[in-house]
Amino acid sequence: MTSTLGIDLGSSPRTAVIRELDPLAADGPCLDLRHHNERSDVPALVAALRALVPSADEVAGYSVEACVAAMRDLGMFLGSIKRHGPEPLPLVPEVLPVLLELGRRTDMVPRDTVHHYTNWNPTGGRQRMYTGDIQEAYLQESVRMVFPHLREALELAERLSGAEVADAKFAALTEELTGHVEAMVSAIDMVVAKVSPEFFARGLRAYFEEITLDGRVLLGPAAAQVPLWLIDQAIWAADNSEPEYEEFLRDSVPYSLPRWRELYDRWTGVPSVVTRLVEAYGDDPDGAERRMPGLRPSTEALARLLRVIIVFRGRHLGIARKAYDADLRLYPVGSGGASVDLLRQIIDLTRATARLTRRPAPSAAAHAERRSA
Ligand code: HEM
Repeated sequence: MTSTLGIDLGSSPRTAVIRELDPLAADGPCLDLRHHNERSDVPALVAALRALVPSADEVAGYSVEACVAAMRDLGMFLGSIKRHGPEPLPLVPEVLPVLLELGRRTDMVPRDTVHHYTNWNPTGGRQRMYTGDIQEAYLQESVRMVFPHLREALELAERLSGAEVADAKFAALTEELTGHVEAMVSAIDMVVAKVSPEFFARGLRAYFEEITLDGRVLLGPAAAQVPLWLIDQAIWAADNSEPEYEEFLRDSVPYSLPRWRELYDRWTGVPSVVTRLVEAYGDDPDGAERRMPGLRPSTEALARLLRVIIVFRGRHLGIARKAYDADLRLYPVGSGGASVDLLRQIIDLTRATARLTRRPAPSAAAHAERRSA
């Protein structure tokens, strides 16, 4: 679970440490940030960010965890300034070398990501929020509740990607993975119940705008960076996708944790689990099941996993459609750079994959053969 960095920043103990840390003494300024945002007070945001920027020596003295916490807090100001119009970097150029160094030290993009905004964000009185609205807190919590599960799910996907599809262990591993993916359904249900499309569209979406940093356009810390799409990559998308979805994945992967980027590289270019399953069935599904009794339980388990992903995506598409309705939205596309049409396409692809895992009905000939036997 390591990278060139040698440590796993997504582990629960490390996450707990990062949440506690406040290397820039930003607890107070981050609370004030909500009021500056309410008043669209760009000069106050710029002045506050300037006051927070640490020196190169200070950054050199930070632990990796402190680097993550510093990125989290600087990021709140970057997104806030951009929300009100201006690009933040030209207004606070001294923050650029710090962001580059924090990105380098943590082996992540030189900007805050959804990990910083949710998982590495303290809860309670010290929670960093753009608005302070309870609906924003629910959105943050929804993502926070899925990350530990996705972490486990991605490691299970790695085991599946190396397992024989007819292996007796395959179905059990898939069931375990499905249990973790179910957290996505609970998360979106909470968001549908607690967050109005109006609040997202008019109140929050603008804080997730991209910024330009050292000539590079970097997306804001939105939920589209939650890597459900990486599970797709292992299970079916590595070789059953479409160009738009492939491009969305390629654009999203850099915002992931180092370990997850490594998994993406590993899964790209090798046959996906579903492809291997379809190959195992070949032209003679009945014969394949007779020869490999593990095949059917594996198929059924994969079909169940895909159903859970489709349930998440269906409910998610519902709220995304409302929030990006032409009458409500301020932006034509999501903060991940993709459209609601892409979400529809991703669901269609997931459904098409689920159809592949439907066990073909035994042929009439096979039936007749069995009856006469
Ligand atoms: C008001 C709530 C939400 C809206 C309006 C919304 C909207 C969108 C949109 C428009 C996209 C397309 C990519 C882009 O942003 O450019 C997207 C992608 C995505 N969103 Fe959301 N989202 C919401 C909440 C959530 C939550 C709570 C989660 C997870 C807990 C989530 C997970 C994802 C994922 C994983 C993708 C990538 C596509 C996929 O895997 O299906 N979203 N979202």
